[in-house]
Amino acid sequence: MPYDLIIANGTVVSATGQEQADVAIQGERIAAVNKGLIKNADGAKVVDASGKYVIPGALDVHVHLELPFCGTVSSDDWNCGTRAAARGGVTTVIDFAIPYGQESLEDAFNNWSARARKSCIDYCFHMAITNWDRHGPEMEKMVKRGCPTFKEFMIYATEGWQSDDRAIFNALEQCKRLGAMLLIHAESARVLDELIARYHTPELMKKHGATLHAITRPNFIEAEAIQRAIMWSEVTGGRLYIVHMSTGEGADIVKAARARGVDVYAETCVQYLVLDDSVFARPDGHLFACCPQVKKPKDIERLWKGLNDGEVCVISTDTCTFTKEQKARWDGDWTKIPMGLPGLETMVPLVYTVGVLGKRLPLTRFVEKCCTNPAKIMGLYPQKGVLAAGSDADIAILDPEKRITVDHATMEGGADWSPYQGMSLAGFAQHTFSRGKQIVNDYKFVGENGWGRWLPREKAGSLD
Ligand code: URP
Ligand code: ZN
Ligand code: ZN
Repeated sequence: MPYDLIIANGTVVSATGQEQADVAIQGERIAAVNKGLIKNADGAKVVDASGKYVIPGALDVHVHLELPFCGTVSSDDWNCGTRAAARGGVTTVIDFAIPYGQESLEDAFNNWSARARKSCIDYCFHMAITNWDRHGPEMEKMVKRGCPTFKEFMIYATEGWQSDDRAIFNALEQCKRLGAMLLIHAESARVLDELIARYHTPELMKKHGATLHAITRPNFIEAEAIQRAIMWSEVTGGRLYIVHMSTGEGADIVKAARARGVDVYAETCVQYLVLDDSVFARPDGHLFACCPQVKKPKDIERLWKGLNDGEVCVISTDTCTFTKEQKARWDGDWTKIPMGLPGLETMVPLVYTVGVLGKRLPLTRFVEKCCTNPAKIMGLYPQKGVLAAGSDADIAILDPEKRITVDHATMEGGADWSPYQGMSLAGFAQHTFSRGKQIVNDYKFVGENGWGRWLPREKAGSLD
């Protein structure tokens, strides 16, 4: 069988090992991964990957593109956001379809699908339950439709998104029944609201500025909420996935729960591995506001350890980008800052540079946490997340030597700033392929709007 494309002579890296091999592609799929395939090149296009790492395209399973939020709309849309992803070696994103007002889950699915039509890479949605009585009865239909992952937020009452314990308990019961999984934004709303009320005075806001964002969210705000969600998972047997875990305490709680057999997974995001809360003291510190906020150096170290030990299974970005002008809405009141950070373009380079080159994470674990585990847990494996015969030809080629200095002005995303501005990073994608089509060539985006396809999923996955 003639191949269309051969990626030759690279070091193919998987979650379990690395080897010198060629990757042969036919149409949209990988046909073979083996040594010597280049001998059968015939008329195939050949990309020489000598001295490069060839990895599965990364999955960012936690993004918010074009999200109406905090009185504005996040500035990475489905076009520029997915272009950014491609440059960062990300070939699949999972966004959160959120119903507003009286909308059903189906309405949310349709709204998100309409926007995502311009995506340059493949995508799917987690369905956000914002009103248990309205959305609970719809869960089964959404699973049958190909959306087996649901989301509940413990905070964001003002957005109309907040879920209480009843909703979380019920949703986990349904997940158990349906083979689905519940993703939770775990922060303890009542105590958080109390702390915010205590600090929300003109004097304290003047004195502390954006650092109040961190002062009002001590680690127990996340830890208590994770503990409680795990309790509901344990008694219902419903599979639970903690999104954007930011604290060492959270990692300890998840580790203990997994050791006693609770069906819980935890994701962290790049910002919690790279930044600490000293950023809030910068003159532009408000730009870094996200929920939960970045924490202390000891949390950073604990999260890297959790990635190595296994209680932290996935790295994502929680991309929710706002421009400087959007962030400026805060005007000295930290409760009014649009919450979220850019990240799609820099996830893989940051994890590679700070993690792999920084000797915090072995190369194979980097692939495991950014590619293979997210695909497995979200029910997309082995279509995505692995370089194997029959898998989609989603591939990133990284040059381990080539460093690029982060500069928002040269990036694809919709931000006019970067939390990582000026950092010298290796691991940007030299070439990216999405289902066999080249979408990044020599660090430049060459893909097309609308190439991305929605990915139906049969059920939530696992690491078993
Ligand atoms: O600050 C954040 N993370 N914004 C996006 C919404 C969320 O909580 O994930
Ligand atoms: Zn969240
Ligand atoms: Zn999020």
